[in-house]
Amino acid sequence: MPDFSNWQIHVDSLLAHAGCGADTETGDLVNPIHISTTFERDSDGSYGKDYMYSRLGNPTRHELEQILTNLEGGDSCFTFASGMAAACAILQSVEAGSTVLLPHDVFHGIPKAILNTPGLSVDTRFVDYRDHRDLDDAIARKPRLVWVETPSNPMLRVTDVRMVAEKAHSVGARVVVDGTWTTPLIQRPLELGADVVFHSITKYLSGHADVLGGAVICRAGSELGQRLEQIQQLGGSVLDPFSCWLTMRSLRTLPVRLKRHCDNADAIAGVLVKHPRVSVVHFPGLPDHSGNSFIGSQMSRGGAMISFQVGELESDPAPAMKVAAATRLIRRATSLGSTESLIEHRASMEGSVTMTPQNLLRLSVGLEDPEDLIADLLQALS
Ligand SMILES: Cc1ncc(COP(=O)(O)O)c(C=O)c1O
Repeated sequence: MPDFSNWQIHVDSLLAHAGCGADTETGDLVNPIHISTTFERDSDGSYGKDYMYSRLGNPTRHELEQILTNLEGGDSCFTFASGMAAACAILQSVEAGSTVLLPHDVFHGIPKAILNTPGLSVDTRFVDYRDHRDLDDAIARKPRLVWVETPSNPMLRVTDVRMVAEKAHSVGARVVVDGTWTTPLIQRPLELGADVVFHSITKYLSGHADVLGGAVICRAGSELGQRLEQIQQLGGSVLDPFSCWLTMRSLRTLPVRLKRHCDNADAIAGVLVKHPRVSVVHFPGLPDHSGNSFIGSQMSRGGAMISFQVGELESDPAPAMKVAAATRLIRRATSLGSTESLIEHRASMEGSVTMTPQNLLRLSVGLEDPEDLIADLLQALS
């Protein structure tokens, strides 16, 4: 990226130049991809250009990691081959036998990884962070890590990051926030007191359903950074140069994409909340949602993920399944944050341990015209 360090410049302007502006011999506007796995030594045996071997460090990866560090206001960033690889690196970075607090509602892969990854030996305790007594009780047991996902997946619960960070730090615990659903353009967890932010790059950051990746960004002074660097380099689950390059290309449009995603979600939530077949809409952008009071203080917008329940019976999946089967523009698939809208019956995706209501559908609102999305949902609900 060109050197904007002594400019007062908006984040949209910075991102429009992500992955551009390197001083190349050919004058490329867009930076080349460094696909070499190895780098040549100088005649005296040194590595004068800093790079030795791509697993340890790669120029394209470093470029992306620098951009993500700046976006989150952190000190270091480590990218991984998937969001789950990044999540497991964080879990590996805490001492074996530590207690990790997890919210009741959280991306199902996290508790599954803790329970089923060989060698990952941490204890978990599930906590409702909205219940101060439950949280205080859990904090009193001196956890090492407090895992926050806000808004949560799939119930869109909003956690007060400042409050949780203050309580966690009082017993020396570290706080990690999964910022996948918001991106640093909506929420900057390090500024709210978190020690580490984690992203599935697979979602909004890459934004086109064609990159699998993860990133961990640490605040200055966090001792987790050094351990994460070792896990990245020695574990070797690094993000490949082409995925790094594609992610930088996508970051150039993140501000405009995210604005459209969020505008569309606001419009759709406003229609769903009035629909007679929809019993509940979970979306922090709605004035009646419990997380709405955090808009302005913690999040700039409600995001673009909406969950809604079809019919009154939480244990009955049939009406929700029928709606998902009837959408025409909105595609039936898991994942989120891409250009095309996706609808998903979440409980059946999460499997037998799910706590998600059976009549809940999760919608990743894409970039289509909002009128078309609303028309598709209305015909599917009719
Ligand atoms: C909130 C959240 N965190 C983490 C992940 C895991 O990311 P990945 O699929 O890139 O491994 C997901 C995936 O859906 C997610 O939704």
